[in-house]
Amino acid sequence: MAADTKVAVTSVLKVEKLTKHFGQVTALNAIDFEVAEGEILAVVGESGSGKSTLARTILRLLDASSGRILYRGKDLLGLTAAEMRATRRHIQMIFQDPYASLHPRRTVFELVSEPWRVHSSVAPRREWPQRVAALLEQVGLPQAYASLYPARLSGGERQRVAIARALALRPDLLILDEPVSALDVSIQAQVIKLLMTLQQEIGFTSIFISHDLALVRLIADKVIVMNRGRIVEQGPTQAIFANPRDDYTRLLLASSPELVGETATKEQEA
Ligand SMILES: Nc1ncnc2c1ncn2[C@@H]1O[C@H](COP(=O)(O)OP(=O)(O)O)[C@@H](O)[C@H]1O
Ligand SMILES: [Mg+2]
Repeated sequence: MAADTKVAVTSVLKVEKLTKHFGQVTALNAIDFEVAEGEILAVVGESGSGKSTLARTILRLLDASSGRILYRGKDLLGLTAAEMRATRRHIQMIFQDPYASLHPRRTVFELVSEPWRVHSSVAPRREWPQRVAALLEQVGLPQAYASLYPARLSGGERQRVAIARALALRPDLLILDEPVSALDVSIQAQVIKLLMTLQQEIGFTSIFISHDLALVRLIADKVIVMNRGRIVEQGPTQAIFANPRDDYTRLLLASSPELVGETATKEQEA
């Protein structure tokens, strides 16, 4: 018998020439990239470079001006509203601000189970209590939180609820838009650790938007560097950090306090 006949790496998402204009502003300018199965792709770039627009356009929360967004080979821009709704189950997003992204008048139980109202095949109603309990445990929240409203929770706890809610649909692709930058510094590492553990356990593919380059270096397989709506550089994380080719990437690396500190320490040791 022949060895594996199919060894090609599957691309979960392939974005081609994606462009988005807001009036005169070109927020995305012919963006091209690919994310393979199980990969963590980081998107970095200073504020206003188009990172959130990229995430929202992929999910069709914003209309693209042109280009293609191939999710497992199918162009999301060609889907009907109903088809897109069905596909959203597989592509979930975690937003920067857990204060804004959770409805204040829903209990944690309602927030986490809400996606199953739309995608009822994922969890029949009788299973909701045990499913919510399992998700709360998975994100490290006490069971008693199920009956609380978001106002009673800390920022880190709210982001854990947002994560549980995103995981409720067992997404194939998770897009995280600066998921910890609104949290206290002391809480950030805990939430990142949780996300990494979940990523390993569940094996979802992720697009991780961040301006924390030290963190990106630690967790990402590949990096995209954005500046003014363009990708100025992309490649494996090691290569980008060891040998940035683009001036803008060098500037970004040089302005990251954690990395500058690290470089200085290494130089002293040398
Ligand atoms: N809804 C909008 N309407 C008009 N301009 C927008 C809108 N959202 C973003 N922009 C503009 O698009 C550019 C990219 O913004 P954004 O994607 O939020 O960047 P980032 O997430 O990297 O900080 C900026 O120039 C911003 O002002
Ligand atoms: Mg943003």
